[in-house]
Amino acid sequence: MIINDKSNIETYKASPERYKTMKYNRSGNSGVLLPSISLGLWHNFGFVDHLETSRSILRCAFDLGITHFDLANNYGPPYGSAEENFGILFNKDFKNYRDELFLSTKAGYDMWPGPYGNWGSRKYLIASIDQSLKRMKQEYVDVFYHHRPDPNTPLEETMIALADIVRQGKALYVGISNYKPKETVEASKLLKALKVPFIIHQARYSILDRWVEDGLIEVIDKEQIGCIAFSPLAQGLLTDKYLKGIPSHSRAAKDHTYLDVEHVSNNLQKIKTLNKIAEKRGQKLSQMAISWLLSQPKVTSVLLGASSPEQLKENILALNNVEFSREELTQINSISL
Ligand SMILES: NC(=O)c1ccc[n+]([C@@H]2O[C@H](COP(=O)([O-])OP(=O)(O)OC[C@H]3O[C@@H](n4cnc5c(N)ncnc54)[C@H](OP(=O)(O)O)[C@@H]3O)[C@@H](O)[C@H]2O)c1
Repeated sequence: MIINDKSNIETYKASPERYKTMKYNRSGNSGVLLPSISLGLWHNFGFVDHLETSRSILRCAFDLGITHFDLANNYGPPYGSAEENFGILFNKDFKNYRDELFLSTKAGYDMWPGPYGNWGSRKYLIASIDQSLKRMKQEYVDVFYHHRPDPNTPLEETMIALADIVRQGKALYVGISNYKPKETVEASKLLKALKVPFIIHQARYSILDRWVEDGLIEVIDKEQIGCIAFSPLAQGLLTDKYLKGIPSHSRAAKDHTYLDVEHVSNNLQKIKTLNKIAEKRGQKLSQMAISWLLSQPKVTSVLLGASSPEQLKENILALNNVEFSREELTQINSISL
C-alpha cells in the first residue's frame, strides 16, 4: 500500500492484510518461522537495475507476507550493490518493520581482490560480515551463511568464525549453502559442539534439479535443520516465458553467465511437457514448480527471484494448490528424473 503524505513524498505503509494468506514453516527444530515463499536479491537489485523497480518488488513481497529477504556480499552487479541498494530501500521503507523482517546474507564466493576476499577463512568471513552490515545499514542480520564449502580451509576454522559472528551479535543464527551431505554432517557436529544456532541449509532445488534428493534431504532431516530451496524456477526456465522463444528482457537474454540460450533450448521439450501438466492442474508452470517444492515435506521455504511485482503476485498463488495426485507426480518424475 502506498500513501502520499503532505509533502508529496511517497511513504510506504505495509498492507494490513499482509499476514492473511502466507503460511509460515518452522526452520528445523529452531524457534524461527520462515514464510513458505522468500525473496532473493541475487538479480534485479544491483546498481545496473532500476532502483524503483527493486523498491516495488520489496514492497510487494512484504505486502504479501514475505518476511524473509536473502542477500549475499557479492550480489549485484557490481558486487556489494544489492546489499547497498537494500540498505537505501530499507531506510526509506522498512525501518519501522525491522522486527517483522528476517534478513540473511552470505560470504564464500569471490568478493574482493587478493587472498582474503574469497572462500572460508576466518579473516574473510569476519571482514565480510562487517562490510555487509554497513552496506545493508543493519546492526545485525538474522542469518549469516557460509556460501559454499572451502576445500582448503579447515572446516573448524570456518565454523568457529560463524560462531564468533553470532557471539559478537552480528548474526542471530547461522546457515550453510551448497554443502554436500557429508560436509553438512561435519559442519552440524562442529556447530552443535560450539552451541551455535545452526538453523538452515540453502540448496539449489527444483523440479529440474533434484541433487538434494541424493542424501542431503536425509541429512537435513536427521540434523533437524531447515531447508530453503534456491532457484526454484531454474532461473525462469520453469515458467511459460521461454515457450515461444527468448524474450529480450529475460534473464537468458541478458545474463549469459548463469542461464544461456543453449540451456533453454536443451530443456524446451521438458518445459513444454511440464507446462501441459500445469495447465491440467489449472496452474501456470511457475506456480506448479513452486507448489511441487512446497509439497516436499523437508522444504521450509521456497526462495524465489523476481524481476517485477507482477511475477511475485502470480507466483504466490502457488500456495493455493499444493496437493499432487500420484499420477501427476509420476508424470513429473518421468520428465525430470
Ligand atoms: N546459495 C546460493 O549459492 C544461491 C545461488 C543462486 C541463488 N540463490 C538465492 O536464490 C534466489 C532465487 O534465485 P533465482 O533468481 O535463480 O530464482 P528463480 O525463482 O528460479 O528465478 C527467478 C527468475 O525467474 C523469472 N520469473 C520469476 N517468476 C516468473 C513468472 N511468474 N513468469 C515468468 N518469469 C518469472 C524472473 O526472471 P526474468 O529476469 O527472466 O524475468 C526471475 O528473476 C536468489 O535471489 C538468491 O537469494 C542462492
